[in-house]
Amino acid sequence: MRAYFNGEILGSDQVRISMDDRGFLFGDALYEVVHAYHGNLFAWDLHIERLQEGLAALRYPPVRLEVLKAAALTLLREESAAEASVYMQISRGVQPRSHLFPAETTPPTVLLWVRPILPIAKEVVAEGVKVVTVADDRWAKVWIKTVGLLPNVMAKQMAHDRGAFDAVFVRDGMVTESTSANVFIVQDGQLRTAPLNNYILPGVTRHVVLELAQELGLEVNLRPFTVAEMMGADEVFLTGTLTEVLPVREIDGVRVRSVGIVSQRLLTAFHERTWAMPN
Ligand SMILES: Cc1ncc(COP(=O)(O)O)c(C=O)c1O
Repeated sequence: MRAYFNGEILGSDQVRISMDDRGFLFGDALYEVVHAYHGNLFAWDLHIERLQEGLAALRYPPVRLEVLKAAALTLLREESAAEASVYMQISRGVQPRSHLFPAETTPPTVLLWVRPILPIAKEVVAEGVKVVTVADDRWAKVWIKTVGLLPNVMAKQMAHDRGAFDAVFVRDGMVTESTSANVFIVQDGQLRTAPLNNYILPGVTRHVVLELAQELGLEVNLRPFTVAEMMGADEVFLTGTLTEVLPVREIDGVRVRSVGIVSQRLLTAFHERTWAMPN
């Protein structure tokens, strides 16, 4: 396997991250994951826009992001799988350990790799997945896609240990998002998901699904919802770059009323977009 690292395409075993890298020491790094379908980078511009906003929020000096697309396409050409994930990470660079930012001239550490992925099995999508709820004790700036994912890691493992696929975070009684996806509910034909604020990641898939909902004539309500509202909803589903549109069948051991009626329509429309791109 090869990877792009600071301007070069190398064998992955040649990539050397410094012990003084700020991503390693402080989690001072941003990341993006893009889903490639038949070598096409789905919603690339939206991912780059979010990365730019993260870089600005963290006061990074300007980073040349154009190189990332070329690197991703080069590495994708070496992949034969129909679907792949493109992971990219930018840290504030290398400097003897100090909380203070390094000099503006310090180059960022830029890493990108491509790995083949398998779609979530059709049966899993048809049946839906189990989730559990967990207190959202993450910091209050999760809209910035930093690599500081330890609460997400702990929550995902807890969900797995309890036989569930994912954990859904709850802050002040309101559902925020899951460990790596946004959460939607359907109630009386109306789609509802948390509004964009600092407590959720502005998901690219969430954005696309909201556009598709409009195209399909579905009513959308961007208002936060409680756990009780989620438990009483007609349908619940997750959206994410690798998750796509994934129905939930059980929350904390309680069955969701129905699975896949609206979410399957959205997933079909979503796939029409992801697979329809020019080669
Ligand atoms: C915490 C969190 N929320 C939501 C999402 C979904 O975002 P996207 O649709 O851009 O993948 C992710 C994706 O990684 C995530 O980590």
